[in-house]
Amino acid sequence: MPLDLDARKPLKLCVLKFGSSVLQKPDDYARAAHEIYRHTRNGEKVVAVVSALEGETDSLFAVGGDVGEGCSDALLARLVRCGELKSAALMGLALQRSGVPSAVLDPHEMDLQAEGEALDANLTGLDADRVLAHFESADVIVAPGFFGEGVEGPVTLGRGGTDLTAVEFSHWLGADRVRLIKDVDGVYTDDPAKNPEAVRLDQLDYDEAAKVSRGLVQEKAIFRAKQNNVVIEVAALGSPFATRIAAVEKQAGPVETPKRLRVAVLGHGAVGAGVCSHLLAHPGRFELGPVLVRDPDQHAANAPELRFTSDPAEALEGNPDIVVEAMGGTDIARSLSQTVLREGHHLVSANKAVVALDLERLHDLARQHGRELKYSAAVGGGVPVLELIDLLGAQGSILSVEGVMNGTCNFIFGQMQKGVRLAEAVSEAQRLGFAEADPSTDLDGLDAADKLSIIIRHAFGVTLAPDQIACESLNDLSAQRIKAVQEQGLVFKQVARCEVTADGRVEARVDIEALPPEHPFAGLVNEGNGFLIRMPQRTVSVQGKGAGRWPTAEAVFADIMDIQRAYLSGDLHASPLQETPLSRIPRMSSGQVA
Ligand code: HSE
Repeated sequence: MPLDLDARKPLKLCVLKFGSSVLQKPDDYARAAHEIYRHTRNGEKVVAVVSALEGETDSLFAVGGDVGEGCSDALLARLVRCGELKSAALMGLALQRSGVPSAVLDPHEMDLQAEGEALDANLTGLDADRVLAHFESADVIVAPGFFGEGVEGPVTLGRGGTDLTAVEFSHWLGADRVRLIKDVDGVYTDDPAKNPEAVRLDQLDYDEAAKVSRGLVQEKAIFRAKQNNVVIEVAALGSPFATRIAAVEKQAGPVETPKRLRVAVLGHGAVGAGVCSHLLAHPGRFELGPVLVRDPDQHAANAPELRFTSDPAEALEGNPDIVVEAMGGTDIARSLSQTVLREGHHLVSANKAVVALDLERLHDLARQHGRELKYSAAVGGGVPVLELIDLLGAQGSILSVEGVMNGTCNFIFGQMQKGVRLAEAVSEAQRLGFAEADPSTDLDGLDAADKLSIIIRHAFGVTLAPDQIACESLNDLSAQRIKAVQEQGLVFKQVARCEVTADGRVEARVDIEALPPEHPFAGLVNEGNGFLIRMPQRTVSVQGKGAGRWPTAEAVFADIMDIQRAYLSGDLHASPLQETPLSRIPRMSSGQVA
């Protein structure tokens, strides 16, 4: 996610490797995207190295053998690498759907060199600067594992070779960690499927790992990690735990089975439907109750796999662990959100209007009842800007935050530039699931004001109600101003801004601005959101898809998964909002704020 604009290098970098055991079918790329997003929203840049889909390499070898009986290994290598190329492209597509800014690179685009036998080669070098340069615009680089560019063409690295790719990337890029994602929760002393006495290890050294992992981790990869002091983590998808392979003493660890959580979803619009789809894709982790909607029959016709109810009490029946609020609006949603916490459920909300109105009250209720309150999706859709603000706020003072934080307005301005009429652009934004039920909320700046109010609380520890933030409406743009701005080659953006003044006040407003093409926000297209966070020594930016089903559902699902991991690691009740987050600014009443 974030890139330090001044230093031009990632704050933290991790390499994640997804093997065939976790890429068994096309749906699994969405799961891998969840895992990647979990890291990017924690402030890491990610290199995702992927294997082919399960069975693909075998079938490519088989078809190659049939078509070219007795053919050269060099040609077979050229063929079988296609499994990884296809897989990297699929991973890129899944990330794009989720709104995670990413770039897919082939080995020749990274100058990834290899030498040795065509089907058992080793990697010898990588143009690290060329790879890292992509992090200026992407949070994730996807690379196919298993092969590199030999002198006479592509060569593969032997079975399990994607582990080797991941370890070498970690070494050459100076990553903070490399995590190999497998279908087991770590390395065991023996095969746990065959030996019930097998013990899961928290850590072990390289030599022991080569002995006991029995191909779970490629031996060549372990050897290279030892040579270069690369610490390998072996973990299951979504797990808080990993086995560390390093220069360490062997240490056993517990086996943790994720608790299956009951989840109630309130609302089945663009966001609610996306969240339900993610929950249904994880039946081992989540059990979904009846979904609260206004008209159950209408929704049942479109989603026969779900149960629906129009009765809030029925939706909350069965004592759900987590309640997801994706209804929108401030009438029923407002009181239900408080009821949910009072009755002892964790609350994950995508409802920025409710969160902005009741932020303090909801946090108080969560604290009083020992429950989690999460609302990452309320600001920025899939852009983890609140997490970034929290991260930066813990490191020093934040001076200002400005952002394009309404995807609908951004989309509409883009359409208007292409000559589409305002009314048509609004209908299209509604059809695409970007706009609010009442799109004037988007156009008048009220949606951005809700988000800005939440940002202000996180950045400055100050409460400023949305109705105290002055907003300029898109509807107030005169035809004359539109024409003049177009003639000057400028682009319209709705920009929301908050800053601390020299005398310690917080000022905030939402404006329609005409920006030059070189401005960091000018390149945001469609439903894009972008943010600039200024600190005394540097400015940090983050951007991505700010509205729509999949990016927003990604953020909601990440909150849900965080709660599940918290059950496992005993970390429940850690509030995402610090008690006095930034005590440097005294808490002030909204009346004092301009
Ligand atoms: N209507 C909102 C927008 C949805 O367009 O940004 C995401 O909060």
